Amino acid sequence: MNKLTNEPANESKEPTNAPRKPRASRWYRTLALGVLLLGSQMGHGDGCCAHEEEEFGDATGSTCPQGSTLTYNNFGKAFMQSYCTRCHSSTLTGGARNGAPAFHDFDTLEGVKAVSDHVDEAAAAGPNSVNEYMPEGGTKPSMMERQQLGEWIACGMPE
Ligand code: HEC
Repeated sequence: MNKLTNEPANESKEPTNAPRKPRASRWYRTLALGVLLLGSQMGHGDGCCAHEEEEFGDATGSTCPQGSTLTYNNFGKAFMQSYCTRCHSSTLTGGARNGAPAFHDFDTLEGVKAVSDHVDEAAAAGPNSVNEYMPEGGTKPSMMERQQLGEWIACGMPE
């Protein structure tokens, strides 16, 4: 380590035909930074890499049947309150979010609409995919509720 930290001081005295040492010390610094960044990405509390984006489900392919009666007020709001807003809420900050990412707040209809594709891919069920990535722990919605979520989103999330 001492050798590394001493190098920059020697740099100016190096003859021009010895460019390797400065490059090596830069490489070490880049590596150290990379390890730090990597560490900060893995702080979800349940071990490494369990929830990378590729574990997201696919779009459910849900469609909006004629005469669908699902609305935010008779379905979406209660669904979000039952299963999602204890982490995904604009009223929660810091550790109270249990790691739920910013801009994924489901305590308002607008909040759901803003990332409805993600909601479909994380928690809804339909002909192309049954997505059980969310909620993380706790009480899970029934299959029927997941299908209703897909339908309500496919219908454009009427209020
Ligand atoms: C116990 C806390 C908790 C609950 C409850 C919860 N989530 Fe999450 N959610 C998280 C965390 C933490 C992440 C970050 C991804 C990860 O590391 O698992 C996340 C990520 C997401 C994402 C992905 C965001 C992105 O684009 O990266 C979506 C969408 C999502 N949640 C939707 C929901 C929905 C819908 C519900 C309710 C059915 C729900 N979540 C319930 C904690 C929660």
